[in-house]
Amino acid sequence: MDISPALLASIRAAAEAAPDNVELRVHLGELLLTSGDTAAAITEAGRALMVDPHSEQARSLMARALDVPPPPASPAPSGTGPLSSGSDRAAPEEPPAPSAGFDWAAAEEEVRGIAEPRFRSPSPGDPVLPVHDVERPTLTLADVGGMEHVKQRLEAAFLAPMRNPELRRLYAKSLRGGLLLYGPPGCGKTFLARALAGELGAHFLSVGISDVLDMWVGSSERNISAFFDQARRTAPCVLFIDELDALGRRRGASSGPGSTVHQLLTELDAVDRDNEGLFVLAATNQPWDVDPALRRPGRFDRTVLVLPPDAPARRAILEYHLRDRPIEGIDLANLVERTDGFSGADLAHVCDTAAERALVDSAHSGEVRMVNMADFEAALGDVRPSTGPWFDAARGVALFANEGGAYDDLVAYLRGRGRG
Ligand SMILES: Nc1ncnc2c1ncn2[C@@H]1O[C@H](COP(=O)(O)OP(=O)(O)O)[C@@H](O)[C@H]1O
Ligand SMILES: [Mg+2]
Repeated sequence: MDISPALLASIRAAAEAAPDNVELRVHLGELLLTSGDTAAAITEAGRALMVDPHSEQARSLMARALDVPPPPASPAPSGTGPLSSGSDRAAPEEPPAPSAGFDWAAAEEEVRGIAEPRFRSPSPGDPVLPVHDVERPTLTLADVGGMEHVKQRLEAAFLAPMRNPELRRLYAKSLRGGLLLYGPPGCGKTFLARALAGELGAHFLSVGISDVLDMWVGSSERNISAFFDQARRTAPCVLFIDELDALGRRRGASSGPGSTVHQLLTELDAVDRDNEGLFVLAATNQPWDVDPALRRPGRFDRTVLVLPPDAPARRAILEYHLRDRPIEGIDLANLVERTDGFSGADLAHVCDTAAERALVDSAHSGEVRMVNMADFEAALGDVRPSTGPWFDAARGVALFANEGGAYDDLVAYLRGRGRG
């Protein structure tokens, strides 16, 4: 349904002006959901739940936006928010249902009978499938600055077993399927995926939505299949599905036919059988939009949260972006300290903005000058961290639908930062 942008803008302005008004937030979220912007609706529901975690309206909006049944009514308000650094969640009143909000059986049922035809034989008029670029990355984890916690987790959950065929055999059952990197945009998921392939000395084949979606019936499925085939042929190979929320979008009333989800499920289940040397990795900013069937054991059941870069990572990223620039008197430690919460992409933006300012200045004065600390002061005044809306949405989702502990890392982080 069409909602006029002017109406949306004025409701949004009203909601921003009265940040504690839950009803207004929910109203904005409802409009966004009606207009098809599910991600923005989740963000608004998350913001409303931050103000009032027990608001029925906000919970109902979140449930519809996430396309999950609403959770049971929340326990009586305890005075503090459920994620506040207080102790209220430390002692669970009752163990959560093992798969609360996450109905495997129903998800599996949905898979059946979707968008035929699933398979068909090629016919002469078919477009020739493109041959995809397989790279061999030279990047390794040593090139990824900081983020020790993520590296350790990747080592344990992915690299150690993959490097070692004996271990792989031993743990064959629990190592089926792939690993899912998730977190706010611009924080290094794609970068890490490439570095992981480099670590393994494997080829790297990246699949994005534009590589796969096709207007021909059945072509998207065959394109996915072609990627898996090519990855098998070039094994050892890391097949990387970027933005899994697009190809693996939760199948629901409002979304598309879901046939790419179906094909992904088929391919992932086959990885177990005959894919020695094929490693499947995926990344998403929106894990809550990924179809639950894809998160089942044996598929993308191992997850790693990739957060905004820590101090050593920010230093590495800043150094990288400044390496070829004419700089003078830059206090790197100061910049690192003042960019807490910035994503890798935000840091790149800060460096660009500072350089641009020096350039404009040089053009005006006719005298070339270096990029200095004053340029960075100005840039830091302009560039805000872009991860805020992601955390607003994530906080709501983690509160609302921590599917059998799927977001425990996130909950712990939010609590640690006092952002909950
Ligand atoms: N720890 C890091 N060390 C070095 N560069 C990083 C790091 N994290 C992110 N970057 C840089 O930040 C940018 C955004 O990262 P990207 O992988 O595209 O983010 P995402 O896939 O999570 O949206 C990339 O240019 C990458 O080089
Ligand atoms: Mg990316």
